[in-house]
Amino acid sequence: MRLDKLLANLGYGSRKEAKQLLKNGAVQVDGVVVKDAKQHVDPAVQTVTLNGETIEYKEFVYLMMNKPPGVLSATEDPSSETVIDLLELEDQVYEPFPVGRLDKDTEGLLLITNDGQLAHRLLSPKKHVPKTYFAVIDGEVTKDDILAFAQGVVLDDGYETKPGELVILKSGIRSDIELTITEGKFHQVKRMFEAVGKRVVYLQRISMGPLKLDETLELGEYRELTEEEVEQLKDYQVK
Ligand code: URA
Repeated sequence: MRLDKLLANLGYGSRKEAKQLLKNGAVQVDGVVVKDAKQHVDPAVQTVTLNGETIEYKEFVYLMMNKPPGVLSATEDPSSETVIDLLELEDQVYEPFPVGRLDKDTEGLLLITNDGQLAHRLLSPKKHVPKTYFAVIDGEVTKDDILAFAQGVVLDDGYETKPGELVILKSGIRSDIELTITEGKFHQVKRMFEAVGKRVVYLQRISMGPLKLDETLELGEYRELTEEEVEQLKDYQVK
């Protein structure tokens, strides 16, 4: 990344102000004064100092977002706002990406990180990491649906899902449920309900493996994971 961009992204003024700091000889890379704003640095391996103070740069960033509806779970998109657009520049500088996708209209827990290994482990179909969703269903969800989901249902493309654990919180012409699944097929929760003739009208992810949605986060807000949460995710083994 360009040095002036790094300084600006980390909050050391605008790009122009960063250029001025460089011109003044205030910035060193690995102990050598660098005045060229265009110089590329890798802050994960090089030490950048400003007026003798080391600029804090972490290798990995782990963020939990309460994803709002209407925003894409992607890093960039020409026409739609993405979850990465919602991050502060000082977090964007780590080039994080969402771990898995939630539909545009789905809300709730989204892990955003630049730790590719962790993301890979959490998403690997072999790991069967459980994800729990809260949903409002148009229609009466019944014990038969619990049994059907426990066996696995056949989706519109012929795919038979792995068993899902369905809990009915409230049953009526509109039902509130929680569903835990261990896969991440496209629109899976919505399609599982379609398979039993019902429609999801609201969907929110509330957990992923050991990670639970922090309910103090408003829609669109995010926070860094605590060290404990990061450890739990890294140590997570599905029994
Ligand atoms: N299942 C869905 O149908 N949508 C999501 O966003 C996540 C799971």
